[in-house]
Amino acid sequence: MAGKTNWSKSSWQNFTALQQPNWPDREEHRSALATLAELPPLVFAGEIRDLKRQLAMAAKGEAFLLQGGDCAESFSLCTAPVVRELLKVILQMTVILGYAGGKPVVKVGRIAGQYAKPRSADTEMVNGVELPSYRGDMVNSSEATPAARRPDPQRMVRGYFLACATMNILRAFTTGGYAALERVHAWNNEFVKSSPQGQMYDKLARNIDQAINFMRVVGLDTNVPQLTQASFFTSHEALLLGYEEALTRQDSTTGNWYDCSAHMLWIGERTRQVDGAHVEFLRGVNNPIGVKIGPNHDIDDVKRLVNALNPENEPGKLTLIARFGIKKIAEGLTPLVRALKGEGFNLVWSCDPMHGNTYTSASGLKTRNFINILEEIRAFFEIHWQEGTVPGGVHFEMTGADVTECVGGGRDIVDQELSQRYLTMCDPRLNAEQSLELAFQIAELLREK
Ligand code: PEP
Ligand code: CO
Repeated sequence: MAGKTNWSKSSWQNFTALQQPNWPDREEHRSALATLAELPPLVFAGEIRDLKRQLAMAAKGEAFLLQGGDCAESFSLCTAPVVRELLKVILQMTVILGYAGGKPVVKVGRIAGQYAKPRSADTEMVNGVELPSYRGDMVNSSEATPAARRPDPQRMVRGYFLACATMNILRAFTTGGYAALERVHAWNNEFVKSSPQGQMYDKLARNIDQAINFMRVVGLDTNVPQLTQASFFTSHEALLLGYEEALTRQDSTTGNWYDCSAHMLWIGERTRQVDGAHVEFLRGVNNPIGVKIGPNHDIDDVKRLVNALNPENEPGKLTLIARFGIKKIAEGLTPLVRALKGEGFNLVWSCDPMHGNTYTSASGLKTRNFINILEEIRAFFEIHWQEGTVPGGVHFEMTGADVTECVGGGRDIVDQELSQRYLTMCDPRLNAEQSLELAFQIAELLREK
């Protein structure tokens, strides 16, 4: 099958595309996209198919999807330590979910291209001056001046190269020995080590060490990719459709189209209109696709969306990422899960406990409370258990850095402490310790059923 009916990589242009920047100079924009269209793909179709196979296992409950990373990546933080620290926490969480929770983990980063953000308004007031909103480093700069906020298409080209650099170091770390399971102790962060989570992790790591050692003792080969490498995939919100189109390529072995800007792409809550350009574009590519679903949805619309994005009901193709917030998940997710189960759709159900739980703290900073995040995950699992469906994964905004952006957790970060290390470019992220704490809690939930 070389293509879908009436679809081409540019057919989205005949539909309404929300959340696109107002590029001031059309010629500049066209020329940047022409440059991108000539550049090599960031990922290879065979890898994308591998992810889809892994997600098909998650749909059945035979694996668990862990998707996480920054809300918005920053150009200036494209460094080896930043990538390494995030990878470390994800590897630690994988060990926890795999060892304590008993499930293979499908690891997907919000990384190597998470540079474009949807915004609630085109402009914002800063110190009495109306400026274009910051839309992610691939569009403009967060600096509050009219010049910095001017959308600059060359930023897409720069973003592509930084995504390449990130991808390269990720591949090096995951296949070059850094992710080898015998290094399980070395992933424990200095600032996490002393915490109860860090100590629980160390204990688990010791057991793994012993198991690997025992394999050697009985003469099993431990120099195998399952133990020396990690499979790790990339994802971002497919927001800037010109950029995504430029990186969409036809696979020479199958004739199918793939968006080669990342392994997995998702459609955000604000751009998932069934008759909109984002759905039109993503229905034609063969990547696994995620769709965020929040409390404001119409069940029949979601059914149409699922049919449009996965007409062949292929397992692993479509992940629905529920982002309801602790107050609305029970009343919102239950009927949705029930209705979609009734249709027999093959879906990965993932829980984003971040975006429905954002609020402005007394100190004026946007934050999320650890307890709400944890409770939303629990509610998510319980709803699926009750409906006989599979809680297949989680979607986090997180970092390997020791930030103070979400309140609560083991160290009980309070409002007044948020400003100490509030470094995010956009939404508040879990720090490494809070992330491990959640992984231990999720492992228990995975063990329960
Ligand atoms: C996000 O994932 O950063 C985001 C904007 O989420 P949502 O589309 O669910 O609001
Ligand atoms: Co966000």
